[in-house]
Amino acid sequence: MILLSIESSCDETSASVLNDFLPLSNIISSQLIHKEFGGIIPELASRDQLRKIDIVVEEALKSSGTTIKDIKYIAATQGPGLIGSLLVGYNFARSFAVAKQIPFIPINHIESHIYSSFIGRKEISFPFLSLVVSGGHTILFLVKDYFEHKILGTTLDDAAGEAFDKVAKLLGFAYPGGPVIDKMASEGNENYHRFPVSNIDDNPFDFSFSGVKTSVLYYLKKNSIDPQILIKQKNKLLNDICASFQKAVVDSLVRKTMSAANKFGVKQISISGGVSMNSKLRYEFIKFENEGFKIYFPKYEHTTDNAAMVGYTAYLKINSAKAFESDKSLFSPAFPRFDYDS
Ligand code: KG4
Ligand code: ZN
Repeated sequence: MILLSIESSCDETSASVLNDFLPLSNIISSQLIHKEFGGIIPELASRDQLRKIDIVVEEALKSSGTTIKDIKYIAATQGPGLIGSLLVGYNFARSFAVAKQIPFIPINHIESHIYSSFIGRKEISFPFLSLVVSGGHTILFLVKDYFEHKILGTTLDDAAGEAFDKVAKLLGFAYPGGPVIDKMASEGNENYHRFPVSNIDDNPFDFSFSGVKTSVLYYLKKNSIDPQILIKQKNKLLNDICASFQKAVVDSLVRKTMSAANKFGVKQISISGGVSMNSKLRYEFIKFENEGFKIYFPKYEHTTDNAAMVGYTAYLKINSAKAFESDKSLFSPAFPRFDYDS
């Protein structure tokens, strides 16, 4: 049963072809244009996606060795995300469903990140904790069954990836900042300086990362550090600042997630979203396997936004009676005037 999926919730344009839970292709076209602005410009993102969407879909079909005729289902990210960007992929997929008279499966972007650690598996074992850490979200879920989850905590201000991006900008690096900080940190001393991360009194599982970003800014000002000069000098101080900042963010993510795991007695933990690419985050979580926890990460190509996770989540929906009960429109035609059943 071949399924085509599309993801365009932020600045990526991605299409994937899957055969029964397994991606045959996963084409991701990222945009370089935002680098010079230090963040995503929504209007530029959606215009670029409009130009690329059919090329990316064609490429996904070609590299999977399938043709349009083979596609029996189509899925696309419905939200949350940038509205202009979402509309490109969503409308493309719905129009495709109408033209081919095949079922269209709308997918929640955060849910697709939750399940991205399990891509390829027909069955998932529950319960598990899911930490979704991306540029737009930092959410800790208790996942009890397919599409049955409870939010335990969320960020009250910046998302973890957003903090990486903003600190990278302060230090003079291009967007996205996470990968650069990760690389710089690998050659730095993480105990060089303690950047404080706020603790939330009301809910111990909520996060806050805007304070740590501000403390990096104050640290640079107080010590009259000009990152541009450090970059030119290839000064190791910059590596130390990156490593210390990264440690502050990672420690907060790990500490809160593990304290939730202990409180709820959950032994399986999944960490996904763009920030789950981070090497220190992976290292620190994986250590808990020695204490009887099972830690899941997505493959690298499934961490940042990609269509394979959208297609995989669509298969889980198709297989899950509960998901159908809760959304009877899934298999309805894109527009009612088309007689889908005939
Ligand atoms: O999941 P994603 O592609 O988009 C959203 O849904 O937001 O995540 C992008 C985020 C960016 O903030 C980027 O800086 C961060 O993931 N990121 C990283 C790393 N690679 C990507 N953050 C820390 N370390 C990394 N290696
Ligand atoms: Zn995402």
